[in-house]
Amino acid sequence: VSSALGRVLVVGTGLVGTSVGLALRDRGVEVRLADLDPQALAVAAGLGAGVPARPGDEPASLAVVAVPPAVTGQVAVDLLTSGRARFVTDVASVKTAPAAVVAQAGAETAARYVGGHPMAGREVAGPRGARSDLFEGRPWVLCPSGSDPAAVDQATTLAILVGAMPLVMSPADHDAAVALVSHTPHVMSALVAARLVGAPDHEVRLAGPGIGDVTRIAAGDPALWTEILTANAAAVRDLLVRVRSDLDAAVAALDDAALGSTEALTDLLRVGVAGRGRLPGKHGAGHEDFVAVPVRLEDRPGQLARLFADIDAAGVNVEDLHIDHVPGRAVGVVAVSVRPEAEAPLLAALQARGWRVDD
Ligand SMILES: NC(=O)c1ccc[n+]([C@@H]2O[C@H](COP(=O)([O-])OP(=O)(O)OC[C@H]3O[C@@H](n4cnc5c(N)ncnc54)[C@H](O)[C@@H]3O)[C@@H](O)[C@H]2O)c1
Repeated sequence: VSSALGRVLVVGTGLVGTSVGLALRDRGVEVRLADLDPQALAVAAGLGAGVPARPGDEPASLAVVAVPPAVTGQVAVDLLTSGRARFVTDVASVKTAPAAVVAQAGAETAARYVGGHPMAGREVAGPRGARSDLFEGRPWVLCPSGSDPAAVDQATTLAILVGAMPLVMSPADHDAAVALVSHTPHVMSALVAARLVGAPDHEVRLAGPGIGDVTRIAAGDPALWTEILTANAAAVRDLLVRVRSDLDAAVAALDDAALGSTEALTDLLRVGVAGRGRLPGKHGAGHEDFVAVPVRLEDRPGQLARLFADIDAAGVNVEDLHIDHVPGRAVGVVAVSVRPEAEAPLLAALQARGWRVDD
């Protein structure tokens, strides 16, 4: 387990970058900060997220690119080729587009990059909204594509140090998944909220927490979301086409209900209940439903990355994670929490790949 990071350079000290800096400082990691906007840099430094980078700085062991998605790939390439950082990861909400930009810089450069996406955020932009516990217990997706295992190990360590749960996916799988759980919901939320514009005051005044829940994410920054939706347009578009036919079915179900036949309407609502039940964490199944599988790790680079890749190859979803170091010995124990039905397949898969699984 490489539980320590050398110096980290955070480029882009907005909401996410500053939150990364704050969380790393809490864990005693040395953090340097950079931003095109001197104001954002000063605020982040003032909050204690790290100290501003200086021209003569030694190269960082890891740079975290936390700038808008459209410029993420280019900023990563600049860092990799300028020698300012040995390894580079990022936090952009889309993964195929930045990976393609980095790949154009050549395989040797791309090997020192691994894309990342913390599944945590807020509707406010800028460093003032940053929180050191933003990533606590949240998934942090890593998307190696041609990445050196040491790069994946650094990004994995970063995710764990800030309290997140790293998991490995291909860039394409990541983009399809976030189209379903984040990008399409954002469009739906914006459409519901848009109905309120121009509605008479006496109607809007009756709004309660329900519409507040449904429209919370619609408050996100339109410029950032335009970039995100543009970079993942194909996947979101396909889902919206399916939602469009669901809307037609809902209209027909209401017409039927008005005529006394409510079956289709109730069915539609039941499917909604079932879909919500699939949400992990506190929305659906409780953590008490998980089983912890303890895996022994040798203390050398690349171990965590290899473990996560093997868990991923086994098709098992990590629900929670905990790392214990064995005092005075160069080993650690990673407790990987999974759903009960995944315990046996995970044990078998890890043993087959040579892991020491304590039971
Ligand atoms: N906001 C969220 O909820 C959320 C969640 C997960 C991931 N992300 C991703 O995190 C990244 C940052 O989002 P944010 O919400 O922190 O945005 P933000 O607007 O709060 O911060 C972005 C910062 O990047 C700086 N910047 C822009 N171009 C730069 C460049 N070329 N070099 C250096 N600095 C530059 C800006 O000055 C700004 O301070 C985005 O890629 C976004 O997709 C956001």
